[in-house]
Order: sequence, then C-alpha cells, then structure tokens
Amino acid sequence: MDVVLIGAGNVGTVLGRTFQQAGHTIKAIWNRHPEKARLLADELGTVAVENLQALPQEADLFVVSVSDRSIQEVAQQLIIKKGVLVHAAGAVSKEVLNGIADQYGVLWPMKMIRTNMPTLGPCAIMIDANKDQALQVIRELAGSISDQVHEADDAKRLKMHLIAAITSNFTNHLYHLAADYSQEQEIQFSWFYPLIEGVIAQIKTQHPQNVQAGPAFRGDRITIEKHRSLLADEPVLLKIYDEMTQSILHKFGHIR
Ligand SMILES: NC(=O)c1ccc[n+]([C@@H]2O[C@H](COP(=O)([O-])OP(=O)(O)OC[C@H]3O[C@@H](n4cnc5c(N)ncnc54)[C@H](OP(=O)(O)O)[C@@H]3O)[C@@H](O)[C@H]2O)c1
Repeated sequence: MDVVLIGAGNVGTVLGRTFQQAGHTIKAIWNRHPEKARLLADELGTVAVENLQALPQEADLFVVSVSDRSIQEVAQQLIIKKGVLVHAAGAVSKEVLNGIADQYGVLWPMKMIRTNMPTLGPCAIMIDANKDQALQVIRELAGSISDQVHEADDAKRLKMHLIAAITSNFTNHLYHLAADYSQEQEIQFSWFYPLIEGVIAQIKTQHPQNVQAGPAFRGDRITIEKHRSLLADEPVLLKIYDEMTQSILHKFGHIR
C-alpha cells in the first residue's frame, strides 16, 4: 500500500521504517523542520516535501504523527482526495480529523517509540475509524506490522492511555527515584534487575495481586517504620512510600 508520512519524529520515523520493511511504499514525507523529513526520506529512498499542500493527494494511508496539540492544525492544511487519514495518538479523539478527509481514524501503536529503534518490533496497535471501509484499510496496514491489532474507540483509548501511564510511566518513575537513591547510597542499581524482571515475568501469567510481596503486604509495621526513618531526608520519596504503603495495606485488609 502507499503511505504518506506527516511528521518525522519518533513515530513517523519508526512507522516509516516498519511499513517499508513490510513491503509498503512511503510516497512522501513532510516535517515542520524540513531537514528531518529530508534525512528520513534519504534513509527510506523517498521524497521529502516542504509544503503540506505539495504532498500527494492520493494514497492508501496518510499518517499524521506530530505532537498531540498540533495534530488538528497540521491535518487541516492537508488536501486529501483519496485515502484514509489517521493520527497516532492514544489520548486524542479521532474527531479532530473530521471534515478533513472523507475517511479518517486512528492507528495508535501502544509502545514507547524512539527514533533509534530500527523497527516497531512486538507492539499492540489500537485502531479506530469513522467508516467500515476506512477501518478495513487501517486494519490491513496495522496487521501487516503487528499480530496484535485491536479496535478501541475514543473513550476506550483514553482509558487505555491512562493504564499505560500507570503501568509504564509511573513504574519507570519509581525506577528513576530508586536508581537515584541507589547511586546516593553507593549501591549498584543493576543488582535489582532480577527482582524487577521477576515481577514482570509473573504478572504475565497471574493477577498482580498474587505477586505482591513486601512489608506492607504482610502488615509488618516495624519494617515499614525502619524504611520510613531512612527516608527522613528524602521528602519526595517518603511521600510516595507512604501513599504506596497505605494503598497496599488497604488492598490486603490491614487497614479499612
Ligand atoms: N513516541 C511515543 O512513544 C509514542 C507512542 C505512541 C503514540 N505516539 C503519538 O505519536 C505522535 C507523535 O509523537 P512522537 O513521539 O513521534 O513526537 P516527537 O518525536 O516528539 O516529534 C514531534 C513531532 O511533532 C512536530 N510538531 C510539534 N509541534 C508542531 C507544530 N506546531 N506544527 C507542526 N509540527 C509540529 C515536530 O516537528 P519538528 O521535528 O519540526 O519539531 C515532530 O515532527 C503523538 O500524537 C503521540 O501521542 C507517540
């Protein structure tokens, strides 16, 4: 199929590589700062276009992968005579594309994507569209680069985006704080990798509730107080420690 890329950031770059590897043709690329479009176009052997109106007006898929806040503004400048227009955002309604193309929707790769990735790799893709015909095209393209393609409308995608923030962004922030504390205490953070990986491996086969461990899970208030005293000079970490501890104590029936 023929694909036009609008945006050559993380997602535009990696989707471009992945679509091409799956046998699709990248017809043209646009990016606000044209040198990025030129770099990607050179890599993929296609053309970079400096003006949105100079992009091809017919293709199977037009992918707008710019920052969430600028999707509508950028898309409104496109002239689409034939083809499906999508954006790649989890937390943005497909309706921001309403009135720009007859067929429009969403192709949201649910993964943290960075330009240094050679291709998308294993990734669930959430799709949505305003018409069955458009959904079919998006499903076919998404299915050519992923074996996990699911339909999710605006409301469901927003909830999934929230779950992604908790499961991925929040856990990583905890790793960040823990890594900083490890460094301050001259303890090697890498020694904790097997512990981290063990939990991730286990939650794939059982409910996270069954994998919970630690002093709050056991209602061990003596150890909790020992931990808290270590954090006397770490107000941010102490606040998070207390919130998490309260939540675990509550979930496992140690407090009401
Ligand atoms: N990265 C991820 O992990 C990920 C995963 C799934 C979905 N998404 C979604 O994919 C989309 C793109 O994200 P990304 O990570 O690829 O973005 P990014 O790498 O941060 O790049 C931002 C892109 O938006 C362009 N842009 C920003 N403001 C603009 C404006 N006012 N007018 C025109 N272009 C503008 C930038 O152009 P310049 O290069 O000229 O600055 C660049 O092409 C977003 O909707 C995001 O929610 C991202």
